[in-house]
Amino acid sequence: MANRKKVVLAYSGGLDTSVAVRWLGEKYNMDVVAVCIDIGTVKNLPAIEEKALKVGAVKSVVIDAKDTFINEYVFPALMADAVYEGQYPLATALGRPLIVKLMVEVARQEKAVAVAHGSTGKGNDQVRFDVGTMSLAPDLKIIAPAREWGMTREQTIAYAKKHNIPVPVTVAKPYSIDENLWGRSIESGILEDPWVEPPENIYGWTKSVKDCPEKPTYVEIGFEQGVPVSLDGKKLGGVDLVQKLNKLAGDNGVGRIDHIESRMVGIKSREIYEAPAATVLVKAHLALEAMTMTRQQLRFKERVAQEYAELVYGGLWFTAFKQELDAYIKASQRFVSGVIRIRLHRGTCAAVGRKSEASLYSRALATYDKGDTFDQSDSPGFIHIWGLPAKVQTERQTKGKY
Ligand code: ARG
Repeated sequence: MANRKKVVLAYSGGLDTSVAVRWLGEKYNMDVVAVCIDIGTVKNLPAIEEKALKVGAVKSVVIDAKDTFINEYVFPALMADAVYEGQYPLATALGRPLIVKLMVEVARQEKAVAVAHGSTGKGNDQVRFDVGTMSLAPDLKIIAPAREWGMTREQTIAYAKKHNIPVPVTVAKPYSIDENLWGRSIESGILEDPWVEPPENIYGWTKSVKDCPEKPTYVEIGFEQGVPVSLDGKKLGGVDLVQKLNKLAGDNGVGRIDHIESRMVGIKSREIYEAPAATVLVKAHLALEAMTMTRQQLRFKERVAQEYAELVYGGLWFTAFKQELDAYIKASQRFVSGVIRIRLHRGTCAAVGRKSEASLYSRALATYDKGDTFDQSDSPGFIHIWGLPAKVQTERQTKGKY
């Protein structure tokens, strides 16, 4: 069919996006170019490429974007210490803008008029896909089949069977799972009851405490200007480093997160995450910042971290505000270089050692032993002036009634 218009679909190889290939052709009378983007855990890229064609795509594109993901999306967020609501290291949220960017690139190459994604109308991912597309390519139409088609799970399966779309056995699993190098997000099924403890079988990356080694594992993480660059003294590329740390921390049961989360669309949802490397790296990075930044710098950085997390969560990656925060964050990391020693033990992760050439910690100033260089006779004068406003307020206003 020569002059059908084209739509570029973010394709995962799963049931929904496979059904979407067929549905887009029927409903919108468009040719579908399927794009599968690997940001960390896609197991068989060629098989997915082939499946897209089998279910009716006119073209199938696969892209390995792991390096870009870690270096341009994950590490900037790590430098920011971005963790949503103090709990969620934002794996899924960080993956979306990169997927959007690559989809838009393919859409331009293919002269497509629309992009499509598999998100439903209840979650955050639709917000990220749509806002990202609006920011990068306002002229492209956005189609979200699963938000429009109004099919239940059973109806989707029936539709697939009717059109010879293979239904993977995994649909029997009642969980919605999204994975990339920075973490694994698990939702729905029994997890929707916030009183129920997550069953062990939902976890894929982390060991249960009872199966963890009895002895702790230590790992030394080297940072250069806020970026992790080595494990135990060995220089590693970002992807390698994160993969190794996911395994190491996951084997010690580190990185399980159980969170009632505030979604963009106003819903509270129960989210389980596995983010072993993210948990360790955020902890280590904060420990190094504590040693190399002043009190004012730390306090301001904490606010920036929260802004950054909100921005990532809400899909505002392609905005001027994000660029401006990035500029500040980059500048703030000039002296954040050094090594943090982490202890991983039965689900816990602690920074137990730190060193840095730019350290602001001075043992000579801090010590209670001999060699003390801090002059204690300076303190009363300092305290007199520091406490002066409190003293005047008590005298003039509150009269000490507290
Ligand atoms: N609640 C998380 C977020 O908004 C995870 C979403 C996971 N997505 C999924 N399709 N299971 O980023």
